[in-house]
Amino acid sequence: MTVFTHAQDLIKTIREVTEGGIGMLNAEKTAETLAAISRRTTLRPKVGIILGSGLGSAAEAIENSVAVPYDEIPYWPRTTAIGHAGRLVIGTLEDVPVVVMQGRVHFYEGYMMDEITFPIRILGEMGVGTLIATNAAGGVNLTYAPGDLAVIKDHINLMGTNPLIGANNNKWGPRFPDMTYAYDEEYIASALDVADTLNIRLHQGVYMAFSGPSYETPAEIRMSRALGADLVGMSTVPEVIVANHMGMRVLAISCVANYAAGVKEGKLHHQEVLDAMSKSADLMIKVIRGFLRKIAPNVGRY
Ligand code: HPA
Repeated sequence: MTVFTHAQDLIKTIREVTEGGIGMLNAEKTAETLAAISRRTTLRPKVGIILGSGLGSAAEAIENSVAVPYDEIPYWPRTTAIGHAGRLVIGTLEDVPVVVMQGRVHFYEGYMMDEITFPIRILGEMGVGTLIATNAAGGVNLTYAPGDLAVIKDHINLMGTNPLIGANNNKWGPRFPDMTYAYDEEYIASALDVADTLNIRLHQGVYMAFSGPSYETPAEIRMSRALGADLVGMSTVPEVIVANHMGMRVLAISCVANYAAGVKEGKLHHQEVLDAMSKSADLMIKVIRGFLRKIAPNVGRY
């Protein structure tokens, strides 16, 4: 009898692996997570915002908000990185219903790609059609200085993996999603326009993603520059790929936290990154607010 039960478990596990991933990504778990979130608020957000390292304070701008700690949401990955609060904040910003991830998880924390991007799947299932992703990045482009903002116009994925590896869930998106417009051109133009109006310096750059957690070596930074990168970081790319897979439109903005390795003398320290970020959080939220005001009339394609 016991042997029979084990055999059944084994078959179930094999089926999960072959039919759409073990663990996080089965429909039952997604439904449980969605149910838990909808018990906390009746608001149906149209825009998702990911606040990266040191930018969490921007969540204070959210009005009529409900904050749900990640550890109260079933299957939601817990943040372990310093500078990441770990709460989902649902409310309004510029009268747009938004869901804000105050903190994210990274590949270097030991999470699998499907865990890192599980929140994006949930946002998509909630009806979010626009993702605004922010992050801290190292400045590779020699004209970028710490504290500057840069809108991401494209990326190079050097993480060595891809969040869509494994069985494809056709309900979520196609097997081979296009990435030509991974960063929405209209959104980039809107963000540049907003920054211009506010007199905020906003670069446009290519983001190269490494797994981390060690910072890049000077040779890796020279390579990234030679390959066309302006920024380097350890996040964002998995979420952007999955958001595109689900048909979301994406705006991504980096805050240049430091000169990338070897650009200037001296070592890199995480505290420096957090300090630079907290100084730029205000600028970031101004750009996001202006952007939301611009897209508000057309938001919610789903
Ligand atoms: N490299 C990678 N990730 C980063 C950096 C960096 O220099 N700064 C902030 N995040």
